[in-house]
Amino acid sequence: LSKQATAATASSLNASTLTPWVDPLPLLPQAKSTGLRPHPENPAIKIPYYRLAMREMLVKLHRDLPPTRVWGYANSFPGPTFDTRSGEALLVEWANELPGKHFLPIDHTLHGAEESKPEVRAVVHLHGGRTPAESDGYPESWFVPGKSATCFYPNHQEAAMLFYHDHTMGINRLNIYAGLQGLFIVRDAVEDALNLPSGKYEIPLLIFDRMLRTDGSLEYPTSGNPKSPWVPEVFGDAILVNGKLAPYLEVEARKYRFRLMNGANGRFFRFSFGDLYEFQQIGSDQGLLSAPIPLKHLVLAPGERGDVLFDFSPYAGKTLLLKSDSFELLQFRVAAAPVNNNAGLPQVLRPVTRIPESQAVKTRRLTLDENMDLVQQSMGMLLNNTPWHMPVTEKPVIHTTEIWELVNLTEDSHPIHIHLVRFQILDRRRFNVFEYQKSQTLKFFAAAVPPSPSDAGWKDIVRVDPGMVVRIIIPFEGYTGRYVWHCHLLEHEDNEMMRPFEVVAS
Ligand code: C2O
Ligand code: CU
Ligand code: CU
Repeated sequence: LSKQATAATASSLNASTLTPWVDPLPLLPQAKSTGLRPHPENPAIKIPYYRLAMREMLVKLHRDLPPTRVWGYANSFPGPTFDTRSGEALLVEWANELPGKHFLPIDHTLHGAEESKPEVRAVVHLHGGRTPAESDGYPESWFVPGKSATCFYPNHQEAAMLFYHDHTMGINRLNIYAGLQGLFIVRDAVEDALNLPSGKYEIPLLIFDRMLRTDGSLEYPTSGNPKSPWVPEVFGDAILVNGKLAPYLEVEARKYRFRLMNGANGRFFRFSFGDLYEFQQIGSDQGLLSAPIPLKHLVLAPGERGDVLFDFSPYAGKTLLLKSDSFELLQFRVAAAPVNNNAGLPQVLRPVTRIPESQAVKTRRLTLDENMDLVQQSMGMLLNNTPWHMPVTEKPVIHTTEIWELVNLTEDSHPIHIHLVRFQILDRRRFNVFEYQKSQTLKFFAAAVPPSPSDAGWKDIVRVDPGMVVRIIIPFEGYTGRYVWHCHLLEHEDNEMMRPFEVVAS
């Protein structure tokens, strides 16, 4: 499934024809609490309460484009950023105030989602959150315009940049493409003590690609096969940074912290600064790494986050670019006067203690599969060859640790995400796919490779490349209940590379 389905029409926009660096980079607004409400587990305590409405809105993606219809939260596209502290719980009421019609080619037939009305559905998941099951945004818990759901986020977890996004069964690729996602930062004392660049020197960048038409509207490709509307991957040439196409940012000649998030449906980014100038990675999905890692580029799959420091002081008076391979995403205009802030970077951030394999009480072998549907004449993706609606097969016991051995039998790289937990990558190993298909035995071509330093911290997404077995070790902590795990390529997730799992009491 490597070919990209495109439905280029006469009115498709070639984004490279627009003048770059004419709009300032938008800094995403902060989510604002509107009061206090009783803590769901202890009503004597009051915790902050937020209400974020999902609405349709018009936004300018670029100076020279007509306004674009998108969906956002609290009148912001992408949604506003939560700035929270570890251990400080909050309540968020997610209100569906969307119109009754989807502006993208909606189809409810995928992934076992029934075809019936209503057409517009939404449910919100806090990605990377250690959230009780009833607040986790289960895909089938969607609600319609006029309704809302209040979610409880205990925030019992370490500092990290999480994000929230739509998770509606079978259509979240469309709801997110329309704009339903935003950032959620958790801070803690360990991170505070590191004295990292903060305030205006800490800049979250939520980056995703879109296909646009010349009238400014979002284009979502269709397959051209009415029996099978699914498009396996979507790539656009308009890459938006905090919702703007090719913006610029004026920076001082000093150190900055950029919190990168790949919010694309299907595109992997390979970020670099300037002419492969060195930067330091200090964190990944679930927070700080053990130590800073000097890098020249950083690959992030959809859903992955990277926390990096870049020092502009050698480039005073210059401009330089944030790039992803040949795409130029953001221009930095560095002030002429260098700032003296050479406070050294701590060599220890937050030690990530490796979990010994012996701690695992169970190893599960789980395959990633392609599946040809002969009736629909269409291709789909599966986890462990099992469609969504089949009974739950993964039932880890709370407070135990498991190893999941992800065996990729497809020709794609899949970023696999597991709700509720954080995990560590043990190793990756190349194996013989044909032999596995014949005999279900793993015959390896090479020795196991440990994760790169970038991948050696706490993760909630792991990239599983074709022909590879990737082993991860997962402590199941927090809550019992029904959650999901899935590929974070949103087109795969919707058809039908997602499975429930259930954390059970011992
Ligand atoms: Cu960000 Cu279930 O996903
Ligand atoms: Cu998640
Ligand atoms: Cu996938």
